[in-house]
Amino acid sequence: AAYDAGEHDSFMHKEMLEQPARAEAVLRGRLDERFGTGHLGGLNLDARELRAIRRVKILGCGSAYYVGEMGASLIEELARVPADAEPASEFRYRNPIIEPDTLYVAVSQSGETIDTLLAVQEVRRKGGRVIGLVNVVGSAIAREVDGGIYLHAGPEVAVASTKALTNMYLAFAMLAIQLGRVRDLSIADGRRLIAGLTALPGQIEQVLATEPQLALVAHRLAEAESLFFVGRVRGFPVAREGAQKFKEISYRHAEAYQTSELKHGPLALISPQVPTVAIVPDDELVERNVAALEQIAARGGPLVVVTHEGVDLGDAAAKADRIDVPRSERELDPILLTIPLQVLAYHAALSLGHDIDKPRNLAKSVTVE
Ligand code: G6P
Repeated sequence: AAYDAGEHDSFMHKEMLEQPARAEAVLRGRLDERFGTGHLGGLNLDARELRAIRRVKILGCGSAYYVGEMGASLIEELARVPADAEPASEFRYRNPIIEPDTLYVAVSQSGETIDTLLAVQEVRRKGGRVIGLVNVVGSAIAREVDGGIYLHAGPEVAVASTKALTNMYLAFAMLAIQLGRVRDLSIADGRRLIAGLTALPGQIEQVLATEPQLALVAHRLAEAESLFFVGRVRGFPVAREGAQKFKEISYRHAEAYQTSELKHGPLALISPQVPTVAIVPDDELVERNVAALEQIAARGGPLVVVTHEGVDLGDAAAKADRIDVPRSERELDPILLTIPLQVLAYHAALSLGHDIDKPRNLAKSVTVE
């Protein structure tokens, strides 16, 4: 039979549930437990070349851009190499400065997104070195780059990316650890992170097993015309990706904000009609995040809090729907925080009766400018 969604109502659902197995596939053979590092042969970069990298610039569109932001923060945190992500669609039009000691990273599920492909070509035309984080083997971007990491997510059909996005994150984590281990990341930290990565597929499975509870929360969220997704530092790209997914398939207005910036503007919009989905990992910022939740609750704003077990939500607890995800290594928290947001978007769209795999006005890959 042709590739189909099987017993699932949509490819998105099938692809979400494939994530534990596909996550194992992207990690397989690429983790060096003994030396606490990544083993990414396809990069075509030896230790000396990896060490010579002074900056990392990540280019992608849509969800690939948001996961690029997660990747930039992993690289800065683990390797202490300055890194940032930029929409590939903007990059070539601002006459970017291409530096020989910058590593350019193109991120794309399809490998065919024209904006990302043209960004790669612009870098190469100016002599820069580009690697690809690409799912489709032999795609245009995969053929154009100097090396890279195939994502092994298998075919992804739903416009809203799930398993490819997760594997992009895991590829970034391995890259960040490998860049770190030729610098100041210790063998102990390297091993700790490799163990954290190894545990992730099973933990993703645990999050997916909470789908019935997430569906109930999603049904309530689907009633709102407008929502906020908030997070800070590692949690901010998670909020951005969560808002993106939600708006793509539910057609509700979903806006991502840094939790810290709420008081500088958007708090004016908080009301009983405007829910906030808050990313509150048990990290360095947990107390400040909880204080922000209390401000939202005090204005009657409904709350959905994606957090870790044991986090005390204070006065906001009574008004919040709480979603606990398993603890990972702190640096790796974003991916487990992202998974419930996929499930929320999916069930919101389902309850609204939308075409989940083919949302209006959107294409799986945009191959014309
Ligand atoms: C389109 C899709 C998005 C996707 C983006 C990048 O805009 O609607 O869901 O994230 O392209 O696709 P890529 O294949 O390059 O990852």
